[in-house]
Amino acid sequence: MFAPVSTPAFAIRDVSFFVLAITAAIFVVVAGFTMYTLIRFGRRPVSPEVEPAQVYGSTQIELAWTIVPLLIVVVLFLVTARYVWGIERRAQPPDALEITVVGNQWWWEIRYPKLGIVTANELHVPVTDSARPTPTFITIQSVDVAHSFWIPQLAGKMDAIPNKTNRIWIEPLRVGTYVGQCAEYCGLQHALMLLVVVVHPKDEFRAWVASQQTVPAAQEATKAGRELFASVACINCHRVSGTPGNGVFGPDLTHLMSRSTLGAGAVRNTPENLRAWVKNPSAFKIGALMPAMQLDDTQLDQLVAYLSTLR
Ligand code: CUA
Repeated sequence: MFAPVSTPAFAIRDVSFFVLAITAAIFVVVAGFTMYTLIRFGRRPVSPEVEPAQVYGSTQIELAWTIVPLLIVVVLFLVTARYVWGIERRAQPPDALEITVVGNQWWWEIRYPKLGIVTANELHVPVTDSARPTPTFITIQSVDVAHSFWIPQLAGKMDAIPNKTNRIWIEPLRVGTYVGQCAEYCGLQHALMLLVVVVHPKDEFRAWVASQQTVPAAQEATKAGRELFASVACINCHRVSGTPGNGVFGPDLTHLMSRSTLGAGAVRNTPENLRAWVKNPSAFKIGALMPAMQLDDTQLDQLVAYLSTLR
């Protein structure tokens, strides 16, 4: 959060520094008086008959330690409110990209409603430039419990709450890959609910959109795996565009191999890991809702050969 690359994140860093400066000043004053008192009065010989000066009922002191903190809190409140208002009142420009992010236990569904793309755990967005800003406006929802969408370098946190729709926007000014994390404890695998945002140059983003909109061609060599995929329970939960698989409980697998991890950051997406994942997801992510399908080695090989063609 101290290395922002996106408009709202710059504002958040500014207000953080302001708050840190005030709290640092308070710390210096309090710690300074404490140290002074310890050193100045710590070694004086104790005489049990002498009481220290009694200042109970001092109006001046009580006013001072009531009014000064109150003023500090009012200043912090006003500055924070001004920044929050500044971020939230941003109107959505016509060129903005729209994404819907849905929190699930424990992964993120990512939809591009206007582009007809559904993916998981990885957002791809265009970089913006001042001549023609292309911010991304994100609608945040949850299907089960409260999660929180947070990519520190791009924006603040936004909770994903069941039956409620929240909005957040990002405007990345630099191409790159930025990592995020569910920031609200949501159960056993809260820690393995990672997010990646890949910020592309504009033409590269268009190429990504085109590749995601393409339905992967059915290949003759992996027919056995494809038929297996459609005959066991995979299709109840997973969708693969162009096949009978139309489930929505698990991640859309149409372009599975274009993603870098499995299980929302649990493990790298390699054919070996994919095989181990299908064999027993709990080996990587205890509590994941995907069951071990009890497939034998031949079936696993066929299925992974098929899934590996979903690029
Ligand atoms: Cu989802 Cu923590």
